[in-house]
Amino acid sequence: MTEDQPILEVRDVSLQFGGVRALSDVSFSVGRGALFAIIGPNGAGKTSMMNCISGRYTPTKGRVVFKGRDVTDLKPNQRAERGIGRTFQNLALFGHMSVLDNIMVGRHHLLKNNFLTGALYWIGGAQKEELAHRRTVEDIIDFLEITHIRKAMAGTLSYGLRKRVELARAVALKPDLILLDEPMAGMNLEEKEDMARFIIDLNEEWGMSVIMIEHDMGVVMDISHRVAVLDFGQKIAEGLPDEIMSNPRVKTAYLGEDDDDAPGTGGREVA
Ligand SMILES: Nc1ncnc2c1ncn2[C@@H]1O[C@H](COP(=O)(O)OP(=O)(O)OP(=O)(O)O)[C@@H](O)[C@H]1O
Ligand SMILES: [Mg+2]
Repeated sequence: MTEDQPILEVRDVSLQFGGVRALSDVSFSVGRGALFAIIGPNGAGKTSMMNCISGRYTPTKGRVVFKGRDVTDLKPNQRAERGIGRTFQNLALFGHMSVLDNIMVGRHHLLKNNFLTGALYWIGGAQKEELAHRRTVEDIIDFLEITHIRKAMAGTLSYGLRKRVELARAVALKPDLILLDEPMAGMNLEEKEDMARFIIDLNEEWGMSVIMIEHDMGVVMDISHRVAVLDFGQKIAEGLPDEIMSNPRVKTAYLGEDDDDAPGTGGREVA
């Protein structure tokens, strides 16, 4: 792919669950190196969109193009191998495993040497590979400031720390594009600030393109380069954070039909 080619293109994606139309002809593209946010009220289709990008769901209609290649028919693991990483809206860690092991699991499929080939030349390739593998994991642990809990069972950690470990596991795949579904949900202010900083660093220093769904409008407006707004499965706006903030259609979606200036009245929860 060329420099100015988007890392991701979503083309006319629709997704139907029985009678429910979760997404209707949604299109957008995410530039290489962008920090792109998807916002919208509850049930707008945000998680469904992430699932169409990660491969958990196959769109009923439309295409998903990643790094210039159509990945619509690929399975989640095939998309992960091509460089799409993700975290989940609800935590998905192994509670009885250590933080370190949880993160190692994330990288497992990257190991070229499996048990059998490894047995043939374990002194050479496999051992070196394992070492490099561990080093990467340690770098990530260091970067996300979870060194002090690396041996702790994931299940015993606070919610904020578990979210951070989950991010570490996704980052461990070294994806080119990382999908974050509400990375700061349920966090206190300090945890949110830490998470925002990690996301900015991932984007700026590690060069990962990011698509983030986030409830906290302050965070979204602060850190994203570009924002798309979904409402009832349709994209109702896309633009720079300032443009989105002043967009009348967006205000209406959040506040309900009567567009008065009393936030939260008669509307759905801001997401
Ligand atoms: N697996 C499913 N089966 C049936 N309907 C679903 C499924 N997943 C989502 N939906 C429906 O699709 C619509 C969009 O849901 P989705 O979870 O994508 O919204 P969301 O924007 O992520 O909402 P939230 O902010 O609450 O997380 C909703 O009407 C939801 O009930
Ligand atoms: Mg959701």
